Amino acid sequence: MILRWPCNRFEFTGVTFLALGTLSLTVVVAIVDAQGIGNRNVDITDQKTFLDVGAMRAMFKFLRTLMYTLAGPTGVRTSGPFLQDPIPPEVPFPCDVSLGRSARVPSSVHKLRPGSDIRVIAAMGDSLTAASGASATQFTDLYQENRGLAWSIGGQWDWRNVTTLPNILKVFNPQLVGYSYGDSMPFHRETQFNMAEIGAVSYDIPHMARAMVERIRRDRRVDWKRDWKMVTIAIGGNDICTFVCMMQQPERLPYKHRLRLLKTLRYLRDNMPRTFVNVVSVPSVRKVVMLEDKPFACQSLHHGECSCWVGKLYNQSDASRERWARIQEQYISVEREVAESAEFRGLDEFAVVYQPWSLNVTMKMNGKKVDFSLLSYDCFHMSQKGNAYAGTALWNNLLEPPGKKSLTWRPLMKNFKCPTKESPYLYTYDNSPVRS
Ligand SMILES: *[C@@H]1O[C@H](CO)[C@@H](O)[C@H](O)[C@H]1NC(C)=O
Ligand SMILES: *[C@@H]1O[C@H](CO)[C@@H](O)[C@H](O)[C@H]1NC(C)=O
Ligand SMILES: *[C@@H]1O[C@H](CO)[C@@H](O)[C@H](O)[C@H]1NC(C)=O
Repeated sequence: MILRWPCNRFEFTGVTFLALGTLSLTVVVAIVDAQGIGNRNVDITDQKTFLDVGAMRAMFKFLRTLMYTLAGPTGVRTSGPFLQDPIPPEVPFPCDVSLGRSARVPSSVHKLRPGSDIRVIAAMGDSLTAASGASATQFTDLYQENRGLAWSIGGQWDWRNVTTLPNILKVFNPQLVGYSYGDSMPFHRETQFNMAEIGAVSYDIPHMARAMVERIRRDRRVDWKRDWKMVTIAIGGNDICTFVCMMQQPERLPYKHRLRLLKTLRYLRDNMPRTFVNVVSVPSVRKVVMLEDKPFACQSLHHGECSCWVGKLYNQSDASRERWARIQEQYISVEREVAESAEFRGLDEFAVVYQPWSLNVTMKMNGKKVDFSLLSYDCFHMSQKGNAYAGTALWNNLLEPPGKKSLTWRPLMKNFKCPTKESPYLYTYDNSPVRS
């Protein structure tokens, strides 16, 4: 009987929390509606409403602290199918670390070695970059942001059991700063320079960039003008899954995304000295949401997470899904085109590279069956293992010349790229032999 107590209390807290959360949001939305603050001629993602006023922050912070406490420290779990296979101690780090290091800090972005030349790492995005639910085994765990495990910005443990971009870079340069230390919300210190917000959309990235610059510039560990910084931007899952079907003119989304991405990159170019930016597209929603043999939990959760595609609320049909898939294709083309555009070329201290590993990513590693261990409890976000595959794929993309970059992820140590004597630098569009 005594053993049952915590369980009962847990469920009680869970239900109370959900009820409280739903109630407060309903009240807020009712107020917004009643006051006519929401403007129906502006798309829902682009509106400033009552929810955006400063006083609301306290409420969001309260709700998210509650979620964080409720889910608990899931990111430190050491067993479960959602974990990658650790790389055993007898296997040496695959690269010659000395080749990843310049004798002195280079002054050109086209001469950056992947290792110690990068001193600062940062990221912008949504729940995919927050690593929501990477170690989830049940519903409430999805509220935990396992940022320490995030593919582009997580630095928990080390490359052997959390094979992320920062953990690989740390082997070359233990002085790296900016990676997330572990489970955290955006307002916790552990998140470091991971600016991702769950539910974020394209509209949010210019703001996120300003907040990022502010945060890094103020950090006393960073020599703002001298240190090389790497930023990875990945956004769009929420635009395409949840909001596109509510837009007045869904076909205009790629165009609007183009303007925001341009604005963000121009801002970084003009305000963030010595920066290398990776632009990564969110994987095809069709591939992730239309998985075969989805477990029941995933089917129900997808109604909420991807309501433009799953369920009946917006009269979803094959035709409407076809339409959203076309829009996503254009959204992705825009990212590529903006990253490759002339205005970001030929600069000494700034470069943008489109990293395409997600374009043809597959969940069927053996070619036949979906490998659900790559996905979180909701089959939507990535598991820790998925994050490790993604982190390694991003690392590989950095060392592959444009036009020859891999379009998918691979099992961890298959095809792990290293800097070589012939090509020791991170590829930019200006230092690569192959035209993109
Ligand atoms: C990963 O390795 C660290 C030691 O470097 C260890 O403390 C941790 O428990 C390991 N995690 C897993 C999931 O095995
Ligand atoms: C769904 O279809 C019904 C009937 O055709 C229509 O009345 C309704 O407005 C549609 N809903 C949406 C969200 O498009
Ligand atoms: C994409 O992946 C599939 C297998 O998953 C493969 O058959 C196809 O050739 C790939 N396409 C490209 C462009 O790499």
